[in-house]
Amino acid sequence: MYSEKVMDHFTNPRNVGEISGADGIGTVGNMKCGDIMKIYLKIDDGVVSDAKFKTFGCGAAVATSSMATEMVKGMPVDDAVKITNKAVMEALDGLPPIKVHCSCLAEEAVRAALWDYSQRSHVTIDGLREPVNDIDEHQPPEE
Ligand code: FES
Repeated sequence: MYSEKVMDHFTNPRNVGEISGADGIGTVGNMKCGDIMKIYLKIDDGVVSDAKFKTFGCGAAVATSSMATEMVKGMPVDDAVKITNKAVMEALDGLPPIKVHCSCLAEEAVRAALWDYSQRSHVTIDGLREPVNDIDEHQPPEE
């Protein structure tokens, strides 16, 4: 059902944790399954120098968080904003159709973190809009 890459990133996730003094933090949730993903970005001179995540969610959500953080590291923010859930899935050699929504969390969390960075640093990133799926981490998802 799952590719070797998905299983690898699920059983050995990269970049787990948080970044103290992160320049951008994005927290998004899927209200249907209740899963939550939080991504931390360190940004130096417009380039993502570090990325970490904490995900309370399914295996596919963990694997996509892991892959998404690997992909954005070293990227200029203008490129990081273009990362799509499709690109993350392709990098993982695919996900089963019922797990595609899990990869959307990764795309949304990266964008939410970039939005947070843009707001805090008064930087404009082309193509970036205010996230609609951002959640207050102190509020549990609706039942
Ligand atoms: Fe909720 Fe995967 S089932 S993110």
